[in-house]
Amino acid sequence: MKMNGHRMAYLDNSATTQKPESVVRAICGYYGGCNANPHRGVYELSVKATKIYEDTRVKVQKFINAKSPAEIIFTKNATEALNLVAFSYGLHNVNAGDEILITITEHHSNLVTWQMVAKAKGATLNYIYLDADGNLSEKDIAEKLTSRTKILAVTQISNVLGLKNDIKTLAAQAHEVGAVIVADGAQSVPHIPVDVQDLDVDFLAFSAHKMLGPMGVGVLYGREKILENMPPFLSGGDMIEYVEEQDTTFAELPNKFEAGTQNVGGAAGLSAAIDYINSIGFSEIERIEKELTDYAIDELKKIPYVELYGCNSARDNKIGIITFNVKEVHPHDVATILDSEGVAIRAGHHCAQPLMNYLGQNSTCRASFYFYNTIDDVNRLIDAIKKVRTVMHLN
Ligand code: ALA
Repeated sequence: MKMNGHRMAYLDNSATTQKPESVVRAICGYYGGCNANPHRGVYELSVKATKIYEDTRVKVQKFINAKSPAEIIFTKNATEALNLVAFSYGLHNVNAGDEILITITEHHSNLVTWQMVAKAKGATLNYIYLDADGNLSEKDIAEKLTSRTKILAVTQISNVLGLKNDIKTLAAQAHEVGAVIVADGAQSVPHIPVDVQDLDVDFLAFSAHKMLGPMGVGVLYGREKILENMPPFLSGGDMIEYVEEQDTTFAELPNKFEAGTQNVGGAAGLSAAIDYINSIGFSEIERIEKELTDYAIDELKKIPYVELYGCNSARDNKIGIITFNVKEVHPHDVATILDSEGVAIRAGHHCAQPLMNYLGQNSTCRASFYFYNTIDDVNRLIDAIKKVRTVMHLN
């Protein structure tokens, strides 16, 4: 693919990934040969659509090692999945005086949602801040995760700093004080193996479009016992058992949380995306991304006017997200100059404004890798960054 006359170096994979042909074919195949409303028809086409949709659910269950397909709820994205937890679980289990604990690295999806729940219920929203290396402060965790905490909501990998949080330990610590843990897996599930039983999380949210799949499909994993006791989030068709004039009984899991016609074409695409990821394997994905990340950080550190964020800590804890600024140049100017060189990065607050404030920045540049990126893409990034200050007449 070309951009501004150059072969494109696509380095905005944390925003969304490119799609393999097999994913595009699966979506076209669904609309071209199997399109019908699932769960509703007894005719062959509807049965086919239902099978595609439910087979994808089982594939997702295996992909993250959930105990049962009933624990896999399809949503439109990770944001909707987190809203489901906030407004179904949060509103009914958090009360005045309770505390919700999140981290300063959260994406707005796992932050604004909890602000809203805290405000609606008269609860307090507390933050875990960072240590000097950019990792979650152990001191804050010890002091702020208490018997008053009802929910610990934390990203597995920060979409700005690319630093991994130890979700397994945090889950054990949350359970010890009687809290549930909600993990945002949007930046982790595409890049590292995630096993919800091993992590022992209560909820995990992620999006198909950041892992080779289409936009418009997200996943909420929820522990079955907890989901069973939660009220529906959205209501309407397909989520009911029986409706009377004044009352309704609801469908079993997972349908209770899937109101209305679902995105079957999107599920077909997600299924093909999981097959593609499995065919490469996470050890290879992690190996490639680590090589790219280590090389990019080493090269960027050699440029005196580049400021890096979240690149101090041990490299084992870092996945392929590199956030930086070029001194005296606005990130949007940097991104525009890189675009003219065929290098696509994101500039802005990355839907993490409290983290930006905490870092003392209004915005930053971010390059994010996936396994199909190459050392040549990184060299293109470095070469383009070296041109920025000249273009801005600062050298
Ligand atoms: N959440 C996406 C990102 O970090 C859009 O870019």
